[in-house]
Amino acid sequence: MKISRVTAAYFSPTGGTKAYAEGLAAALVPSYADVNLTAPLVRAKAREFGPDELVILGAPVYAGRLPAVEGGLFGALRGHDTPAVCLVSYGNRAYDDALLEMLDLCAAQGFHCIAASAWIAPHTFSGKIGAGRPDEADREKLRAFAGEVRALLETGVPDGAVPAVPGHRPYCPVKRMPFHPEADRRCIRCRRCVAACPVGAISPASPEKTDSTRCIDCLACVHACPVHARSVYQPPLADIGAGCEKAFLTPRREPEWFLARR
Ligand SMILES: Cc1cc2nc3c(=O)[nH]c(=O)nc-3n(C[C@H](O)[C@H](O)[C@H](O)COP(=O)(O)O)c2cc1C
Ligand code: SF4
Ligand code: SF4
Repeated sequence: MKISRVTAAYFSPTGGTKAYAEGLAAALVPSYADVNLTAPLVRAKAREFGPDELVILGAPVYAGRLPAVEGGLFGALRGHDTPAVCLVSYGNRAYDDALLEMLDLCAAQGFHCIAASAWIAPHTFSGKIGAGRPDEADREKLRAFAGEVRALLETGVPDGAVPAVPGHRPYCPVKRMPFHPEADRRCIRCRRCVAACPVGAISPASPEKTDSTRCIDCLACVHACPVHARSVYQPPLADIGAGCEKAFLTPRREPEWFLARR
C-alpha cells in the first residue's frame, strides 16, 4: 500500500512520548507532519485523514491508563479507514491497559490500528527512572519496528486484523494523584506555566495556584517555570520521586510491539 503522508500526532507534556513518536516517524519517512496535541487549542482543532495516510498516535501512560483530558486526547482527529500506529511511553513500571485503551480509541475515531508499541521514557516523577531514554538501544528498536511497519504496509494488512496487545476490558479504573503542583513565593508571575498546562488548570490571574479538579499531574508547569517556583510541595516532589525509584528504577524494561496479524 502506498502512503501519501505520515503524521505524528501525540500528547506529551514532558517530551518523552514526543521523542518516540517523532523518532518512529523519522525512521519511517524522510519528512512527516508533526502535530503536538499537548496544547488545548491544537487538540481541539478538527483534522481529517484519508485511507492512503498513516498516523502515529502517541500518549503517555498515567496509572495504567491514558491521561483523562476533557474532550479526549484524539477527540478532534477523524480517520477514514486510515492506518494508524499506536504508541505509548511509560516510566519503566508498566503500561497495564493503556495500549489497549488506545487501540479502542483509535478504532472509535475511524482509524485502523495496524501496529501498537510501548516504549520507556524518563518517569515524570523522577528523572532517574528511565534516564537517558530513548537511548541508542531504543533507537535501534525504533528502526527495527519501523522496518516491520513498512513491510506490513507493503504486503497489506489482512482484513479485520488488529494487533493482539496486552490489557483488560473493562480497563483498570482512572486513578488521580492525591497531590498537585503549586508555586511558592519565588513566583514572578511570568505565566509560562499557564501556557504550558495542557488542561487549563492554572489561571492567569493566580498562576501560583492550581485547579485540582482539572490537574492531571503531568508536571509540564514545573518544567516550564524559569525560577523553579512551581513544584509539588505536599508531599515534596523529591519524596514522591524517591518512592517511585524504590519501586520502578530496576529492572530495565524494554520496548514491545505488536503487529496486526490474522
Ligand atoms: C500521573 C502520572 C501517572 C503515571 N503512571 C505511570 C504508570 O502507571 N506506569 C509507568 O510506567 N509510568 C507512569 N508514569 C510516567 C509516565 O508514563 C512517563 O514518564 C511518560 O513517558 C511521560 O510522558 P511525556 O514525557 O510524554 O509527558 C506516570 C506519570 C504521571 C504524571
Ligand atoms: S512559570 Fe513559575 S514564575 Fe512563572 S507564573 Fe508560573 S509559577 Fe510563577
Ligand atoms: S497544573 Fe497540573 S495539569 Fe497543569 S501543567 Fe501543572 S501538573 Fe500539568
